[in-house]
Amino acid sequence: MKDSLFIRAAFSQQIERPPVWMMRQAGRFMPEYWEIKNKYSFLEMCKTPEIAADVTMLPVDLLGIDAAILFSDILVTGEAMGGDLSFTQGVGPRFSNPVRTKEDIDRLDTEVIHKLQYVADAIKVIQQRLNGSIPLIGFAGAPFTVMSYLIEGGSSRDFKLTKLFMHNQPELAHQLLAKIAKVTAGYLNLQIEAGVNAIQIFDSWAQALAWDDYKEFSHHYITEIISNLNRKDIPVISFCKGSSVFAPLMAEAKPDVISIDWNVDLKDIKHRLPQGVAVQGNLDPHILYADKSVIKDRIHRLFERMRGEEGFIFNLGHGIMPDIPFDNVKYAVEVIKEFRY
Ligand code: CP3
Repeated sequence: MKDSLFIRAAFSQQIERPPVWMMRQAGRFMPEYWEIKNKYSFLEMCKTPEIAADVTMLPVDLLGIDAAILFSDILVTGEAMGGDLSFTQGVGPRFSNPVRTKEDIDRLDTEVIHKLQYVADAIKVIQQRLNGSIPLIGFAGAPFTVMSYLIEGGSSRDFKLTKLFMHNQPELAHQLLAKIAKVTAGYLNLQIEAGVNAIQIFDSWAQALAWDDYKEFSHHYITEIISNLNRKDIPVISFCKGSSVFAPLMAEAKPDVISIDWNVDLKDIKHRLPQGVAVQGNLDPHILYADKSVIKDRIHRLFERMRGEEGFIFNLGHGIMPDIPFDNVKYAVEVIKEFRY
């Protein structure tokens, strides 16, 4: 795998064109996803290795992307620790037993890796299907983002309860984050052991945090997780919404790649990072709603801006929205794959 476009770009080696994959590529914008989804619940899909493999392979077979991402969810760590997790159409993820007190935190279990064995099993099935063609990315949620779901009991607009908890009861917040971080490191090592070729840590909602709070309640734990990975020759990608602000700090956690949101010029932010840290990004996903001529123009504009830069992986600044036309995503991948530096 070390010769693949994706791994070479992740390790800042020379490439003939940027590799492409997209966050949430294994999901709802594909009609074929719905054919599977209509038969099973989301968690059933995650927990049945053959089905998780089928969904992982959809964008590989239908789009021809340069890296696959494991079909799962960032909240499976919270579930394994004792969260009562469900996903409802139109509502999203929900923990029916939110974590709000010291007793709630004490009840959360950290000896849970065996409960996530289904993920290792899925990885093995996926690797058989991929058969060495492209790398497989494993992933986990960052402790702050997972904590926000555990505390709020689901998605949140303003993270009011999470922030209140951090600000009024910082010791308890740290106890909770430390527990999640321990499980997350073990979980990612399980994925590495099972055969993933790269790791991405999703801190989707870090953007909600002030600089000092990001440092104390998020960055600290991501640093700890990355330092505890049995990395071998596996690149680690750090993603957050808010990376246009936090990237220089994120680099201190020693990832190989930082995934950048679309609020910043990618070349400018790359030049503010240490030598050898690659960037991933950063097309505004809304561009994929636009006319094909616009899609092509914006991709070319980004690629020209990054000409001569080593360590660049194409991605969106955040995930594909479920109602983006499949045809537009397919077109974007074609434009990218035809490009040559
Ligand atoms: O990227 C991929 O294609 C791989 C699979 C993947 C999923 N979730 C599948 C999924 C990954 C990497 C995730 C990560 C994830 N999950 C994140 C971080 C990524 C990001 O976009 O910031 C977050 C915040 C979650 C939590 C979560 N899970 C949310 C907010 C939702 C959707 C709520 C909604 O209805 O909009 C989910 C459910 C989910 N995870 C779906 C998929 C395909 C949709 C499930 C369905 O079919 O209804």
